[in-house]
Amino acid sequence: MSIPDVTELTLEEKASLTSGASFWYTKPIDRAGVPAIMMTDGPHGLRKQREGGDHLGIGDSVPATCFPPAVGLGSSWDIDLVQRVGEALGTETSIENVSVLLGPGVNIKRSPLCGRNFEYLSEDPIVSGALGAALVKGIQSQGVGASLKHFAANNQENDRMRSSSDVDPRPLREIYLRGFQRVVEDAQPWTVMCSYNRINGVYASEDPWLLTQVLRDEWGFEGLVVSDWGAVNERVPGLSAGMDLEMPASGGVTDAQIVAAVEDGSLDEVVVDAAAGRVLDLVGKATEGAGRAAGPLDVDAHHALAREAAGRSIVLLKNDPLRQAQGAGAKEGPLLPLARDAKLAVIGEFAEKPRYQGAGSSMINPTRLDTALDEIRALATGEVAYARGFSNALEVAADEVAALRDEAVAAASAADVAVVFVGLPARLESEGYDRDDIDLPAAQLDLLDAVLAVNANTVVVLSNGSVVALPFAGRVPAILEAWLLGQAGGGGTADVLFGEVNPSAKLTETVPARIEDTPAYLDFPGEFSHTRYGEGLFVGYRWYDARRLDVAFPFGHGLSYTTFSYADASAAVAADGDIEVTVAVTNTGDRAGREVVQVYTSLPGSTVQRAPRELKAFASVALERGETRALTLRVRREDLAYWDIRADRWVVEGGEYTLDVAASSRDIRSSVVVTVDGDAVTLPLSRTSSMGEVLRHPVAGPIVQGLITQAMGDFDQSASSIMPEGVDMSKMMESFPIGRIGMMGALSGDGEGVSVEMIDGLIAMANAPQQ
Ligand code: BGC
Repeated sequence: MSIPDVTELTLEEKASLTSGASFWYTKPIDRAGVPAIMMTDGPHGLRKQREGGDHLGIGDSVPATCFPPAVGLGSSWDIDLVQRVGEALGTETSIENVSVLLGPGVNIKRSPLCGRNFEYLSEDPIVSGALGAALVKGIQSQGVGASLKHFAANNQENDRMRSSSDVDPRPLREIYLRGFQRVVEDAQPWTVMCSYNRINGVYASEDPWLLTQVLRDEWGFEGLVVSDWGAVNERVPGLSAGMDLEMPASGGVTDAQIVAAVEDGSLDEVVVDAAAGRVLDLVGKATEGAGRAAGPLDVDAHHALAREAAGRSIVLLKNDPLRQAQGAGAKEGPLLPLARDAKLAVIGEFAEKPRYQGAGSSMINPTRLDTALDEIRALATGEVAYARGFSNALEVAADEVAALRDEAVAAASAADVAVVFVGLPARLESEGYDRDDIDLPAAQLDLLDAVLAVNANTVVVLSNGSVVALPFAGRVPAILEAWLLGQAGGGGTADVLFGEVNPSAKLTETVPARIEDTPAYLDFPGEFSHTRYGEGLFVGYRWYDARRLDVAFPFGHGLSYTTFSYADASAAVAADGDIEVTVAVTNTGDRAGREVVQVYTSLPGSTVQRAPRELKAFASVALERGETRALTLRVRREDLAYWDIRADRWVVEGGEYTLDVAASSRDIRSSVVVTVDGDAVTLPLSRTSSMGEVLRHPVAGPIVQGLITQAMGDFDQSASSIMPEGVDMSKMMESFPIGRIGMMGALSGDGEGVSVEMIDGLIAMANAPQQ
């Protein structure tokens, strides 16, 4: 079927295309042969509702594979794995005749309190952008589209439909938009979903700067902008701003507003043509891609991929040696992996009733659901006792709490190793609202203490969609951060516990010691519908490093059952300006494993504010026991750039960059320095330009320097009554506006000022176009 050109449609038909027909469908135009297409959530599985629709995850949907949500999958830091999961998501989308999967979400985890952090990838824009691009590429390889969301600066749920994220230009560009930019430039998602919130006072759904200037003109986005469901404020200004498709349906109300605005001359019809044209393009791509994946769904294969991804999502935070050798399963060395024949006590409700995804629009109806308890029993050859330990119910009677604890303590004291599953009850993490704190429920912490009192060999397995405080971290020998792992998380957990899978995930968000230490603590969730991003650039590890704060576990941290050594790194600037960093990594332990190698940059003496260390590249590498591989990681030149608020553009500052090759943000294995040529930034001079700026100007600088040298030659500092000896005059003059330089004459005592005409002449000469 060929999709008509926008010129073949009437104004009413074009306007009709700019809003949905129903909750999930676009409008068809039968006369012109334009079919309706379906879009649906997303992101970590397909939520295709059988009938009707809601965006709260309430209604039933067709079974689909529930892959690990972004909080888990992102921890793999593995582009290939993430892309494979994307392909599987695309396949399921195609099989169900859905054209666009609403994901991935690449918003930055600004605060651990954001209720939706489980749907996002990282506190770092390079991680979010690189993994987000891999997801989009995977999804779109199957002839269906992705929807990059929620554009932009949507970092809290509280008041999300009105609140203004008040962010300065540098953090907006360098932290909050950078990940989106990378996904758009590297993967061209078919659609971008604008967010509910306002940015610096303007609704994302009607912001021409965001949706047109930045997204299309600067980044080259070629697809369609869709609103988040219900994000439209004023439809006509939104359309002009570049918000093409309003979802869900408006009942035709806003279509009529668009027609009326064209008719009364307040809206140019070319704006409607552009939006309707993009809807037609999307429908065209969807029609062409339809049927790429043939059903039926291979449920087993996708479940197996979900299990592989789950195992690769689990972060081994800690793995100390056994406290005392006990029983048949006793062994030397670290507590994990467990011996198959160890006598185990599995404790905690999450082992039996997994928390495997978050609440809200992303809730998938899984094709099946593993529990950790069953999967541990399937792999174990020794005895596995189970005790529920605690209840996640809202109200639990004191005698029930005591009985559950006593049962768990009895099981733990009879076992070689206790494996305790603790985590956040589902009600504490959801789209639509934020958390109040980062604490695990007190009853669970009490239970853990009671277990530790009778069995020091305790492994903690965490189930949570965003970081939690770990007050017990110093007292338990082993901790697995098992996040929310999707439908095969039980199997993935058992695989890691027994060493079937050697853990390789690392933290994409810092685990803070206390909520009070977190960067947004004093500015979250804001007040009166404004959230001031007062921490600026210092988001996540950038903050903890700049303030030299202790953290529970740093960004990028994650252990393995093997060990890795790093040789000295080398680095060089390639012909295209990127930096190539080469490092040999060796698996020095006794089993195969994977290491996530990270490259951070810093620029000592930079003229702009910077975090002590910023992630710029990473790679996940599989190494056999004893194997060494030389890796080359590429730091993109554009990722070195800061956003220059004077020139309103990206600028790479020249200088000697330090590149830290690291196993985590606080475990640097090798550092190397590279000289980078900077971008020229010549700003026009004016009377308010400082002497420092004038001196650095390529034309005015040498002239003024000559004059100063001459004047200083005549100036006897020791004769001055106001100048203490040793004062650095150049420092003093650095911030002195050149327009006020007439005072110089007064200072030199000869009464001769520099005239305004002379200064204006200098400025004109400096600003004249150079030959
Ligand atoms: C969410 C989106 C989702 C949409 C459709 C909104 O409430 O913010 O992420 O794709 O609903 O369900």
